[in-house]
Parts: sequence; structure tokens; C-alpha cells
Amino acid sequence: MGVKNSFADKVETPVSIHEPIDDFRSYLTYVGAIACNGFALSQKTRDILDEWGKGNAIEETLQGIRNDLGACERCKLHKGRRNIVFGKGNERAGLVFVAEGPGHDEDIKGEPFVGAAGQLLTRIIHAIDLTREDVYICNIVKCRPPRNRNPEPDEIAACMPFLIRQIEAIRPKVICALGSVAARSLLNTDETISRLRGGVYYHEGIRVICTYHPAYLLRNPAKKRDVWEDIQKVQKLVG
Ligand code: URA
Ligand code: URA
Repeated sequence: MGVKNSFADKVETPVSIHEPIDDFRSYLTYVGAIACNGFALSQKTRDILDEWGKGNAIEETLQGIRNDLGACERCKLHKGRRNIVFGKGNERAGLVFVAEGPGHDEDIKGEPFVGAAGQLLTRIIHAIDLTREDVYICNIVKCRPPRNRNPEPDEIAACMPFLIRQIEAIRPKVICALGSVAARSLLNTDETISRLRGGVYYHEGIRVICTYHPAYLLRNPAKKRDVWEDIQKVQKLVG
């Protein structure tokens, strides 16, 4: 596959601290189930476990990330926006949709996907027996690019840390990237969306499925079949 090497490595061996932690959690559940009373731990081990516990305490909430974003002026998009569109949906979602950036209607409302493309996205979500309240929807950039142009690399770079933190706070089972800007930014690749769709990729150990943007689908209804295939794959992975 013509994807950059650093990324190709990741595809073959998704490395995430969450996998060993999940394994360990399963093991402890098993040990509890067979009525093991406890472990004999050295003081040193107890100190290490205390340190790890502190790590848990700083797990982020979406509200905390939104607060950090504040009245953001980190890139030039702030000049033309009416509202920041941070993202909306379920903090415990198994599925997160990531698109490109707010359009006209989203900028006015401060919410993602409330225009025509949003209605189509809602239908896509319903097609896999979910509602918008079950999933989380957000964008690569949180402010509307002028005349809906693609976000520029400096704008993506300024906003990306917040998206990464949102994804980390939710830790969904699956991310669905909508359109090429989202897919390329999340996967750090220059590949086209038509070549990225059909595969399963990883962002920080979370599966990523790429499909066409709903706005593109409105202009190219012949691509519906492809999106339906992609979204069924998403459904299967979300479980
Ligand atoms: N298009 C996007 O990329 N994001 C939205 O939130 C709405 C339309
Ligand atoms: N090009 C894009 O940028 N997005 C799509 O969804 C399809 C083609």
C-alpha cells in the first residue's frame, strides 16, 4: 500500500498502552472470579502502583478540553468564525466521526453537521441502528474556513492537539474519518480517500475506517454503495 512507512509500521503492529492495560484488567477480573484474596507486593511495587494511580486521576473530560481551548486564537481561522464548533455527542461513544471543519450552518449554530450534509450523516448513523446521541461527531478544525476552503496545514497543526485529546478522552472502538482531509490528518498520510477507503488503519491503537464526506456524497450519489460498504464495516467493528 502506498502509505508512508512510519504509518505502515503502525498498521501492522498497533502499539497502544491500552492493550496491555485491558489484558491486565481481564486478568484481574479472572483472578477475582476464582476468589484469589490478593497479592503479596513489595513496598517498591506498591509505590509504582501508586504512581500509576495518579496517572488515572488526570484522565481528561471533554469539558476540560473545551475549557483549555477557550476563546481560541491559535490560528487565523478565529478571525472569521462566529462560533467554535468543538464537537457533540456521547462522551462514552463507541464510534467517533471526524470530518473536516465547520461550514456555514455549523458556524452559526456552534454544532457539527447541522446543515444538508448533517442530515445525510444522521441518515447514515440511523442506517447502522445508532442515533446521534450514541456517537460523537467532531472536526479536524474547530472554526469555519473562509468560503469553506480546505483547512491549511498551519490551521490543522494548531487544532490537531485538541482533536487528539478528544479522541483519547473518549477512546472509542472505531473512528470513522469522513473525507480526505480528516483521513489524511488522522493517519498522517498523503494518500487519496479513494485509496484509503476499504482498509482498516490505526490512530493510537484505535481502528480508523475512512469513507467519503457526506457533502461529497450529496454531489456524487453514485458513491452511496461505497459508503454503505464502509459504514457496514464500521458497524461490525463497533459491535
Ligand atoms: N462538514 C464538515 O466537514 N463538518 C461539519 O461539521 C459540517 C460539514
Ligand atoms: N474528496 C474529498 O475531499 N472528500 C471526499 O469525500 C471525496 C473526495
